[in-house]
Amino acid sequence: MHSNDHSRHLPANSNVCLIGLMGSGKSTVGPLLARRLGYLFVDLDREIAASMGRSIREIFEQYGEKRFRHEEHDQLLRFCRQERQVLACGGGVVVTPSNHECLRQQITVYLETSPATLAQRVGADKERPLLKDAASVTQRMETILKDREQLYRACAGIIISTEGKEPPALVEELLAKIPTDIQEQAS
Ligand code: S3P
Repeated sequence: MHSNDHSRHLPANSNVCLIGLMGSGKSTVGPLLARRLGYLFVDLDREIAASMGRSIREIFEQYGEKRFRHEEHDQLLRFCRQERQVLACGGGVVVTPSNHECLRQQITVYLETSPATLAQRVGADKERPLLKDAASVTQRMETILKDREQLYRACAGIIISTEGKEPPALVEELLAKIPTDIQEQAS
């Protein structure tokens, strides 16, 4: 676990953005953390699907990844203009360079997880476009992680390993890392 400096000087109402690969626990930890902070939980993939009237798989199939990334960028910026939310970002949010500044202005947490654990948690999920044709999910996770790991690290103010931890324990660990001024306002 480590903290970059840019997490420390954020305003009290900052959003918390959860980043990390598919299966890192963003959608599981997010609602628990939001409840503890008295924040709203927002799943960005769900918002993208709602705004386009299609599932993520359908968006990739019908419009392609580029269009999806464009919509992802718009939704990220839309929610980051608001306050007091825990945002579960899609695993690929960091591949769009114009998202980096926005993420660095929030309390961004990288849920660091090994490819083997990610594969175990996600299984062979046909709904996830990036895993659709993978012969080995672990190998696919390794490849994607190699491309993204530095980006996750550069965008996150807080990095926390999820290995061998149940979501409630992770939330406690995270609460100890989140700047105290936002917690003082938590209900
Ligand atoms: C993606 C991750 C997915 C979803 C889309 C692309 C990625 O979100 O945004 O399938 O590029 O890693 P989750 O990380 O919530 O599964």
